[in-house]
Formats: sequence, structure tokens, C-alpha cells
Amino acid sequence: MIILKSDKEIDEMKKAGLLAWELLDLVESFIKPGISTQDINNLVEEVTKKKGGRSAPLNYKGFPKSICTSINEVVCHGIPSPSVFLKEGDIINVDVTPIINNFHGDSSRTFFVGKVSENARRLVDCARKCLDLGIEVVKDGARVGDIGAVIQNYAENCHYQVVREFVGHGIGRIFHEDPQIPHYGKAGKGARLSRGMVFTIEPMINEGDWRCEILSDGWTAVTYDGKLSAQFEHTLAIRSDGKVEILTAP
Ligand code: MF3
Ligand code: CO
Ligand code: CO
Repeated sequence: MIILKSDKEIDEMKKAGLLAWELLDLVESFIKPGISTQDINNLVEEVTKKKGGRSAPLNYKGFPKSICTSINEVVCHGIPSPSVFLKEGDIINVDVTPIINNFHGDSSRTFFVGKVSENARRLVDCARKCLDLGIEVVKDGARVGDIGAVIQNYAENCHYQVVREFVGHGIGRIFHEDPQIPHYGKAGKGARLSRGMVFTIEPMINEGDWRCEILSDGWTAVTYDGKLSAQFEHTLAIRSDGKVEILTAP
């Protein structure tokens, strides 16, 4: 069941969205070789609280930390740890989901740690472009498959593959609502997008095989072949006038 939002509710969601944006800007300026993923977690947790919010991932279905930190071959849901340190050449996705006034704002970016390889840079650029292209096709009356198709086409043209196991999602007072938004698919297929819908697009793009494996911690998803994975995420709304708004950006 898709829970549609009024413009007033979307205004409320914008507050959480803007905090997600601010947090990721802050993380961007903080990332450098030698810090731990726990340091990033603590920074986000502290600022989220200071702004009157809380972190949705913490204790979500048992997730133990406030953000996800996914380095190199980690596709998503990496768990921050005081013993995992960033090193020159890593790529790291930081995924934040603050809650403000009961509404969620979900966004992630993949950052470079110092200077990275040409391969890593190309993959990350592709993942960013996949998100941008997905956003461009969002409008009242479009289909969920239109988003997946444009992302899959672009990624596969770059000779990368799109992760299937994790998808974008409706979002509001609940972290993960209907509909699911796959980042692969066929144009013209799937549920229709409509005014009042709020959802994420969050393509995970793999250098090699799209398949993932979950580590024994029950969360960390890694690429099957150990190659790199990159991801970007925004939360989007379709307003009552049909305008599409990125809630997790100013
Ligand atoms: N933020 C992730 C998403 O984009 C979900 C993280 S769930 C957690 O949907 F439990 F791992 F935090
Ligand atoms: Co999400
Ligand atoms: Co997220």
C-alpha cells in the first residue's frame, strides 16, 4: 500500500531531507585517511541530536549503529567500527537517515579517500550519473520501470552491473514503505508514479558481477567477486502540482 503525502507533509519531510544533506556535507569535509568509520558515525550522531533529530538506522531491525559506512567492495549496510580505518585510495559510501518530527530523510554519497584509482573514479562517476538520470525521468504518470530502465541502460553501457537485491523505496513516517524502486527494469512497466508519492532512488553499481553476499554480521552486503561497488541516494517527492522535488538537497 502506497501512503501518499500532502504538500504540508512534504514540507515536513524537507526538514529531515535538508539535515541529511547537511550531514553528508559535513562528512565530506571530515573524510580523510586515518579516521575510523566509528568516527564518522559519532560525528553524524552528535550533529543529528544537536539539530533535534534522531538516527533511523540505530536499532532498526537490530542494526547497531547510526549510519551505514560501506567501503570498496561493500555494496551497502556496512557497520561503522572503531577498528576500521579509512586509507588512501578507498571509496566509501556514507548513508544517513535522520528523523525530524517523525519524518525520515534518506540520502547517501560515495566519497574518495585521498587520491583513488582511475577505475574507482569511473565507477563512482557512473553511479552518480545513474542517480541523476533516474531522477530526471520521475514525473506524475511515469512508471517505476522507467527509472530502472534508464539506470540499467547507462550502467551497462559503462560495462558495469546494477545490484538487484537492494532497491529504492517509499519513505515517510516509516523508513521503508511501498513502492519498491528497482534500479533495473523495462520502461513502461511497473507501478505508476503519482502526485503525493515520496520515495528514494539509490542505485548500487558494481564494477563486476551484480550479485551480493551478506557477511556473518547479518548486515554487511559485499560484492560476490570482491570488486568495487558505488552508490548515491536521494529522497524525492512529487508535489500536488506535479513538481518533482529532491528533498535531500537545498
Ligand atoms: N539507509 C538505507 C537505505 O537507503 C537503509 C539502512 S537500514 C540499516 O534504505 F538498518 F542498515 F540502517
Ligand atoms: Co533508502
Ligand atoms: Co539510505
